[in-house]
Amino acid sequence: MTLAAPDHQRLLIVDFGSQVTQLIARRLRELNVYCEIHPFQAVTPAFLADFAPRAVILSGGPASVVDDGSPRPPEDVFTIGVPVLGICYGQQVMMHMLGGQVERGDGTAEFGRAYVTPARDRLDLLTGWFLDAREQVWMSHGDHVSALAPGFAVYATSPGAPFAVTADPARHFYAVQFHPEVHHTPNGRTLYENFVRIAGFTGDWTMGAYRDEAIARIRDQVGEARVICGLSGGVDSSVAAVLIHEAIGEQLTCVFVDHGLLRQNEADEVVGMFRDAYNIPLIHAEEQELFLGALEGVSDPEEKRKTIGRLFIDVFQREAGKIEGAEYLAQGTLYPDVIESVSFSGGPSVTIKSHHNVGGLPEKMGLKLVEPLRELFKDEVRALGRELGLPDAFIGRHPFPGPGLAIRCPGEITREKLAILRRADAVFIDQIRRHGLYDEIWQAFAAILPVRTVGVMGDGRTYDYACALRAVTSVDGMTADVYPFTHEFLGETATRIINEVRGINRVTYDITSKPPGTIEWE
Ligand code: XMP
Repeated sequence: MTLAAPDHQRLLIVDFGSQVTQLIARRLRELNVYCEIHPFQAVTPAFLADFAPRAVILSGGPASVVDDGSPRPPEDVFTIGVPVLGICYGQQVMMHMLGGQVERGDGTAEFGRAYVTPARDRLDLLTGWFLDAREQVWMSHGDHVSALAPGFAVYATSPGAPFAVTADPARHFYAVQFHPEVHHTPNGRTLYENFVRIAGFTGDWTMGAYRDEAIARIRDQVGEARVICGLSGGVDSSVAAVLIHEAIGEQLTCVFVDHGLLRQNEADEVVGMFRDAYNIPLIHAEEQELFLGALEGVSDPEEKRKTIGRLFIDVFQREAGKIEGAEYLAQGTLYPDVIESVSFSGGPSVTIKSHHNVGGLPEKMGLKLVEPLRELFKDEVRALGRELGLPDAFIGRHPFPGPGLAIRCPGEITREKLAILRRADAVFIDQIRRHGLYDEIWQAFAAILPVRTVGVMGDGRTYDYACALRAVTSVDGMTADVYPFTHEFLGETATRIINEVRGINRVTYDITSKPPGTIEWE
């Protein structure tokens, strides 16, 4: 096994399929602890020996330990002499394997907010808890522990969970019934802080250290070969490009495909920054005509995505073919894409939108991959970007979809509509920046609607397009809430758009959350 962060203290999270396992990892990374999530099937004794964790966390999960064949970690987790924290299902599996008892829920399941109170003298894991007599926690369980394993005692209880926190402090085994990683357990971070302190972590996982290691690893991996990196202007590919450039300089060439669906001034900004400010060799493929020509008459959203994805691959392949000796393709893959979370539900989930527009590129081109961000969460990529000196305004940019403005122009795309949309979007973003709201919002943009409406300006009748503004808050784009602008802000923005953008005479604000809506209009 090749370890991803060989020089760091490592924590292993054994995944039993909880919806919130990723949050455990994020909480730990925020504490500068390097951790990895692995599905329980992959955690064999040999794996454990190679990974050499300094501590282990057993995640929650939907199974019931009383069922035959329910998931287990290897016994070694409890014999290698490191602290172990079991959460929810992890608590039950721990009790069960160490000689306690778990009973199936008899309709007494506990879901949601609960309050725990201390049951006996202080536990090192709970330092900083109960300053207010009780702590709010988030419960989500059906089964419960009914008899403790030898060596364990109860340290906190809740009305529905007499074994809310149990521990064998001598062996540093801790088991909690609730989820300390979620937002609804407000003091959860303290619990993780205590756990990693007990395990002797020194907080050695910082982006400063990672930068140097990543540079060394890239040099090691690619040697004298040349690397191609597709730049989209987004944060991930930009950070990957700058990092790789620091590692191998001129051996890197970036390819920026301009499909004619970018925002106002976007192409100039990307080219200006990478070619001029960073001196990175950059091919700017100006293929607006090709893409917009192929999209003529196309109004189906998936058809648009497929057309753009296919042409993107063609153009990229052609441009990359001009770079002699290229052996590697750089991608800004992040850790959430890598985690192979356990699915107990089986079957594939329904595809709402085909997001992976350029999948399959490396195989098609016969290139090997360089993925220097594979171990990182998005917030870590931003921190690394700051380490590399990328401007804050760039690092904090809202996400922008691969198919660009095509999916913000429902129905048929025309050059006229794109030009109007660009201007409206620029005014909206300018308004948001002027009011200091940009960083509070996950994504904000304008969409141009495929409808003309009647208006009156001055003394005349107008018959122009309507536009919709969209602004949402989100943590990962999976769910989203509408941003609550004031009426004043919305009114001022509508006035500016109508005054400054010829072609729009009506502005609406989209107040649909996700679900049931999606963030983009298509
Ligand atoms: P939805 O619209 O599915 O968007 O709620 C969730 C997030 O994904 C982005 N998005 C895309 N990104 N290719 C991309 O690279 C796509 O086809 C695509 N569709 C949506 C969207 O901007 C939001 O951040």
